[in-house]
Amino acid sequence: MAKAFPHAQVVGLDLNAQKFSDAPKNFRFIHGDSDQTLPKFNGQASIVHCRCVAQHVTDPQALILLLSQALVPGGLLLLADGDWIVYDQHKKLVEPFQWWDCGTTSSSLAEPAVLEEDAHGRSWYAGWLNFLGNLTRSKNYRPIEELVQSADALTVLDSRRYLSPINWPGEGIENGEDLGKLLIINQRNFLLGSKEIASQAGFSREMIEVWGRHYEAEVDSGHFYNLWHYLTAQK
Ligand SMILES: C[S@@+](CC[C@H](N)C(=O)[O-])C[C@H]1O[C@@H](n2cnc3c(N)ncnc32)[C@H](O)[C@@H]1O
Repeated sequence: MAKAFPHAQVVGLDLNAQKFSDAPKNFRFIHGDSDQTLPKFNGQASIVHCRCVAQHVTDPQALILLLSQALVPGGLLLLADGDWIVYDQHKKLVEPFQWWDCGTTSSSLAEPAVLEEDAHGRSWYAGWLNFLGNLTRSKNYRPIEELVQSADALTVLDSRRYLSPINWPGEGIENGEDLGKLLIINQRNFLLGSKEIASQAGFSREMIEVWGRHYEAEVDSGHFYNLWHYLTAQK
């Protein structure tokens, strides 16, 4: 954003520290919490862009309020959010493999053969997303469209859902070729980044190894889509 709009002052915010090797001069990053940091920008921002954060905060509705308060009157809020469901090449919902629903006992989880028998053709990839989504999504989360509609100060200008192909161009998808290449990197990185969370949640090392192998094979060779939500609102 800062490179594309050199006359704008761009501020990034995240709870996690980030390193930017080639940040332009009109960009600064704040390592902080949205609850404490956003009020410092009340009434100052022409555009607020919040991507894939709303479902991870304890109170998503309060976050939308803080984001709208940071805007100048007439300012734009751009919200994007990922979903945790997977579609197949025919744009039909893929059934996730959920070991906790299939009678597997926790003592047998470390046995790859038992796990593989239990999958019965259901998707390991969709199962992993389902598990991580349930684990990390706030209990108070509602789709961004609903959150913004409940915020008095905001008017929705545009709200849409779109499918991104993974490792293939998809069918009838604008920029599908590029999206497919980006999403396979994104989904491989997601697996790597989420193994530790799965381990803390009780997945054994063997189980993560088996699950990860199937996940990678599916996203590499399957024809899947991820679902995303995108919304523009004005103050
Ligand atoms: C799925 S990641 C999205 C990261 C980035 N916005 C993007 O689109 O690539 C969710 C991010 O929300 C951040 N986050 C969660 N709670 C937060 C909070 N209260 N304040 C600031 N950032 C928060 C996490 O640190 C994490 O980096």
